[in-house]
Amino acid sequence: MAMDDILLAAAKAAMDKAYAPYSKFQVGAALRTPDGQIFSGCNVENAAYPQGCCAEASAISAMVMAGGRKIAEIAVLGKGDALVTPCGGCRQRIREFAAPDAEIHVCGPDGLRQTFTLEELLPASFGPENLK
Ligand code: THU
Repeated sequence: MAMDDILLAAAKAAMDKAYAPYSKFQVGAALRTPDGQIFSGCNVENAAYPQGCCAEASAISAMVMAGGRKIAEIAVLGKGDALVTPCGGCRQRIREFAAPDAEIHVCGPDGLRQTFTLEELLPASFGPENLK
């Protein structure tokens, strides 16, 4: 399924709120739940560098705070020429709440660049089912 403009706009608005004084690399993420709600987040860096938080993690926190437990699709947006695919840690964070065929839309300020499934970005993954 193609990503719509609403999700893209939410990711862009989130990116513009990013707190990234150290890397200067602002990232926004916006996810949609199966019932159509959208939650967004930005990266929040810290002077103690490892304590920084990725945009995807912020968006997931917003979803969980609202009672959401399922990611239908997620868009990640950053500047530059390279694809801003979710980092390894965020692939696992998304994995907690998304099905293998959930779409991850990688975007730039110009719009959608490439869509992957979660399975493509995190094959043979470990998840909640492993603990049952
Ligand atoms: N970043 C994200 O927010 N999401 C990603 O998936 C990739 C990296 C942030 C973390 C840090 O604040 C900045 O981008 C540079 O790594």
